[in-house]
Amino acid sequence: MNESLTTFVEELKKEINSYSISDDQSLEAYRIEFLGTKGKVKQAFGKMKDVPAEQKRDFGQMLNSVKQLAEDNYAAHKQALAAESGADDSVAIDLFAPSVEVKLGSRHPLQIVRNEIIEIFNKIGFVVEEGPEIEDDWHNFTALNIPFDHPARDMQDTFFVHKDPDWVLRTHTSNTQIRVMEKQEPPIRILAPGRVYRNETISARAHCLFHQVEGLFIDVDVSFSDLKQTLLYFAKSLYGDDTKIRLRPSYFPFTEPSAEMDVSCMICGGEGCNICKYTGWVEILGCGMVDPNVLENCNIDSTVYSGYAFGMGIERITMLKYQINDIRLFFENDQRFLSQFTD
Ligand code: DAH
Repeated sequence: MNESLTTFVEELKKEINSYSISDDQSLEAYRIEFLGTKGKVKQAFGKMKDVPAEQKRDFGQMLNSVKQLAEDNYAAHKQALAAESGADDSVAIDLFAPSVEVKLGSRHPLQIVRNEIIEIFNKIGFVVEEGPEIEDDWHNFTALNIPFDHPARDMQDTFFVHKDPDWVLRTHTSNTQIRVMEKQEPPIRILAPGRVYRNETISARAHCLFHQVEGLFIDVDVSFSDLKQTLLYFAKSLYGDDTKIRLRPSYFPFTEPSAEMDVSCMICGGEGCNICKYTGWVEILGCGMVDPNVLENCNIDSTVYSGYAFGMGIERITMLKYQINDIRLFFENDQRFLSQFTD
């Protein structure tokens, strides 16, 4: 480091340290002399442009430490003078000042509904299990009896993280069924909430990221009527005691028979309105008896055990509950939207 630069900085430090500050006037004079817009510290930084490139870094560091020294010195004297005059504002508290309103945060509406669903099923013995969001082909498709040529595997629906071996962003929470059945022997009674991904064009009704809750119950002698009673209990707990359900035959590769469940419209009570498109019913989930192939894929003896499964979209249920008409609102983090929900 160029010696004249070092000396210059040392001199400046000495000057700062020896400046006599005894009252508010000399404090202000100090501030102007060292820290003002035309002060000595600013001027020192001005020297930077004449310093050879290889010394710029060291000189810069020295200047920063001088600046810090000048500022600390100013703050220390200021505080000392204030304390002397008894006007130390760090201890002056106005006990009569009106309090500042503390804004409490609130849970996200999807989180509120997710917790509500979990609570309802907890009461009848379902425990929460979570599976991975990045999943292999076996757990997301093959073990669930989804054939290789099934449209759900199509590039249009699935986000591939890796091709051959296929790793995907899970397209549903049904993967967790397989993960649990592989590691646990029946009886199994689980609820698997989580995020799922599909390559959908984002609109008011669809998003590429959304949430589902999967349910699975495996034991001896589980029948379709067990499924129906459980879902009726769920619908009444969620939407009120007068709620009715109906099951329509449907198709899912992993269940046989399969059904979709409608509930009587929670807005009009079944009279007919624009939410239920004047049918009196709204669809909220898919379900069915676990296909024996799926049990066998997880080494569960399908001649001994049977079970049911169901899957629902949390966004859909939340939109119906709060009459929200655009799914994108859930992901925009707009406080005006989020602060309306309390649990
Ligand atoms: N996995 C289905 C989907 O994403 C939902 C579903 C339907 C899950 C029926 C199930 C079921 O467990 O039995 O659309």
